[in-house]
Amino acid sequence: MPDRIALVTGAGKGLGWETSRRLGALGMTVFAGARDPQRGREAAETLRAGGADARFVPLDVTSERSVRQARDVIDASCGRLDVLVNNAGVSPEQEPGIRGVPTAVPAGLLRQTYEVNVFGVATVTRLMLPLLLRSAAARIVNVSTTMGSLTAWADPDSPQRRYAPMLLAYDSSKAALNALTLHHAAQLAGTTVTVNSASPGYVATDLNGHRGTLQLGDEGSVSVIVRLATAGADGPTGAFVSDDGPAAW
Ligand SMILES: NC(=O)c1ccc[n+]([C@@H]2O[C@H](COP(=O)([O-])OP(=O)(O)OC[C@H]3O[C@@H](n4cnc5c(N)ncnc54)[C@H](OP(=O)(O)O)[C@@H]3O)[C@@H](O)[C@H]2O)c1
Repeated sequence: MPDRIALVTGAGKGLGWETSRRLGALGMTVFAGARDPQRGREAAETLRAGGADARFVPLDVTSERSVRQARDVIDASCGRLDVLVNNAGVSPEQEPGIRGVPTAVPAGLLRQTYEVNVFGVATVTRLMLPLLLRSAAARIVNVSTTMGSLTAWADPDSPQRRYAPMLLAYDSSKAALNALTLHHAAQLAGTTVTVNSASPGYVATDLNGHRGTLQLGDEGSVSVIVRLATAGADGPTGAFVSDDGPAAW
């Protein structure tokens, strides 16, 4: 996929880094967005050492100023954006007494989670859209999770209800992210921009205290993100997809 320009948020580590690596290996120019300059620079250097055309761009998704500056950097050097992977995410409700206890979650923790997982995505998408509309075929991939599936949480027999800890802030933020996917996709229907939610595999990263059962690089870790980011004209829009196929909203 030469000549495709991608931006991945939260690319300094975890799934964002792996997604950047995979898109870079396909020949895309990858802007690796990271809020920590040292981590971002090192990530881009490692990606370049692996043969990718990767460039670090400072990007804190909670800062409109930072997102505008990142947009201006991409605009000045490439003039458009073909792929936006809204990957940056947080899950801060990990302390005993809060983890798994929805009524104990303070509003501040909900706000902190939504700032990145929902409002950050809304800001990045809003400000990057003019660049995406200059692409012949733009792909927005919102990195979600089946932990945000309202269908699953409404079913006492779902794996989420039976086996997962209830993380009110994280799970509900991803449900809100899925709503954002549907709204953006509906608005952009009939344009060259598609918008989808991806549910990647359960991968050992800092976000889940490395409890994930897959490792970065394993098949199924970020495959669905890459598939949606590289989908052709017949690809979906307004869909929620996991590696096993369509996911329940
Ligand atoms: N791991 C899984 O099993 C799994 C499953 C389903 C979905 N997901 C989703 O995948 C995405 C990546 O998670 P991960 O597992 O790779 O976690 P991770 O290793 O903790 O990575 C999260 C990334 O988000 C970045 N980030 C956080 N706040 C940010 C901000 N304000 N601005 C810019 N970047 C910010 C982090 O940057 P810093 O280094 O600066 O903190 C980091 O690069 C998340 O959206 C998560 O919900 C993960």
